[in-house]
Amino acid sequence: MLLGVLFVGISNYFGVNAVPYIRLTIDYIKTASTQNHPTSDSYHQLFIYGIYMLGYAALSGFFLFMTRQTIIVMSRMIEYDLKNEIYDHYQKLDISFYKRNNTGDLMNRISEDVSKVRMYLGPAIMYILNTSFLFYFTITKMVTVDIKLTLFVLAPLPLLAISIYFVSDMINKKSTKVQEKLSEITTLSQESFSGIRVLKAYGREKHFIKEFEGLSNNYKNITMGLVKIESLFQPFIVLLIGFSTLFTLYIGGTLAIKHQITYGNIAEFMVYVNKLTWPIASLGWVTSLIQRAAASQTRINEFLHTEPEIKSTTSSIKIIEGEIIFKNVSFTYPDTGIKALKNVSFVIQKGHSLAIIGRTGSGKSTIANLICRLYEPDSGEILIDGENINEIPLSSLRSQIGYAPQDVILFSDTITNNIAFSIDEDQQSKEAIIQAAQDADIYSNIIEFKNQFETIVGERGITLSGGQKQRIAIARAIIKKPQIMIFDDCLSAVDTQTEEMILGNLKKIMISKTSLIISHRISTVKNAGNIIVLEKGEIVEYGNHQQLLEKQGTYFELYKMQLLEEEKSA
Ligand SMILES: Nc1ncnc2c1ncn2[C@@H]1O[C@H](COP(=O)(O)OP(=O)(O)OP(=O)(O)O)[C@@H](O)[C@H]1O
Ligand SMILES: [Mg+2]
Repeated sequence: MLLGVLFVGISNYFGVNAVPYIRLTIDYIKTASTQNHPTSDSYHQLFIYGIYMLGYAALSGFFLFMTRQTIIVMSRMIEYDLKNEIYDHYQKLDISFYKRNNTGDLMNRISEDVSKVRMYLGPAIMYILNTSFLFYFTITKMVTVDIKLTLFVLAPLPLLAISIYFVSDMINKKSTKVQEKLSEITTLSQESFSGIRVLKAYGREKHFIKEFEGLSNNYKNITMGLVKIESLFQPFIVLLIGFSTLFTLYIGGTLAIKHQITYGNIAEFMVYVNKLTWPIASLGWVTSLIQRAAASQTRINEFLHTEPEIKSTTSSIKIIEGEIIFKNVSFTYPDTGIKALKNVSFVIQKGHSLAIIGRTGSGKSTIANLICRLYEPDSGEILIDGENINEIPLSSLRSQIGYAPQDVILFSDTITNNIAFSIDEDQQSKEAIIQAAQDADIYSNIIEFKNQFETIVGERGITLSGGQKQRIAIARAIIKKPQIMIFDDCLSAVDTQTEEMILGNLKKIMISKTSLIISHRISTVKNAGNIIVLEKGEIVEYGNHQQLLEKQGTYFELYKMQLLEEEKSA
């Protein structure tokens, strides 16, 4: 930045100092042309002046290059840092933050807003410096010629700056609107492409085409307005420059006739005025850039200053053994106010397994969320190895939990990378990946694909069936051999036979590991030693399959219903 300031100064110094040679040349021509016998020396002198002008221009150009190389490069580096800082911070924020803010907004702040801030740090600062130096050097040169002429010639310029400020402001407001319309179009396209299966199945193509056309039309109309302002802009500047030139010619001419200045002075002035016009015009533009950058930085700061509510109190590494205790845990989702868990207490001893069953919306997934500390309970406490979960460093906690969530998310990457997602690249081994795939009973499916483990699963795993996706999620959860494993309804899309096979495999893996199996299907949980039955956020029954059947309560009802369904489908 400091070097940049220096370079702008030098560049302008040379730029302005080339101009007097125009005066010298013209005045020289005038004198030389009045002589009757021009010698070759006269032409030689013209050549020398030319060389000087060229030299100054080249030096000015070189330092202009250096200016851009320092200031613009600096702004790009800050942009890079800022982007990384925001992204880093995003990664620390809680799930609830993401529920509150929409994806478009998050993305905008990291791209649009950052680039507006960069426009300030780079071009805006550079133009301000440039204008200041140029102004200083030019005006000092101009007043030495004639103060009155200087004042007249410069008179239209402030008007220029002010009007450009207003026009830029108008352009900015319009382009913000254009941006908004554009993001509406993006959102619609994105949703319709990712939901293309539903869209086509319901035959809604026409509807979406119409919707898209409507949005495009809005966009077009607003851009037309923008184009109109922009087209008026340039002619207006040219007009004002014209006035300056007119003043220079008229007043300069008068003074020259009175022999107060020379012809060369007039030419010199014209060049000064020309040199000043764009930088002064840019002041208006720069002002609006600064305003925009300020607004963007405020938006960025709003997110950067959002502190994650869930964070580690210590940073040490803790090895988890796996005992999980829920003590009177209640939890309400902050945004909806839905009381998802009420006074839930249970114990899973280290190395043991617990199954949770319950109807939809009974709070099963919420328990899994709380164990991963994606949310914190309102009251009661969760203990792991006898220690409050809040005391365990987040990274230690989460790295030792293998969690197969209910809604499987796969990344647009190879199957290998999707399975080995939880492991650092240098620790991945082919054998471990194959083993995990076998245990999750997905291996035979994978090797049927043309590219086998290198098959790219499309966005959100569009190329896989529901059951295949679930089994990849299971493989992902077990590959790192975590001490605690949570399977949230991740066998719901596979048939009971496959389910039995996977459960058998998991049993082997889960020896000496703590595990939580969540399901709304009896078949998934019936072999578990301990089963909890949840209803509307409360534990209503507890026991093993046999004991629960004997109670003739909720579990028994679920059992009867599912047995009936099985018979129907058989
Ligand atoms: N992120 C969330 N924000 C607000 N409310 C939520 C959220 N997730 C779940 N809920 C609400 O909390 C209650 C319990 O949901 P939960 O996902 O724990 O049920 P579940 O037992 O896993 O159901 P399912 O069998 O359908 O998966 C539901 O009433 C649900 O509407
Ligand atoms: Mg659930």
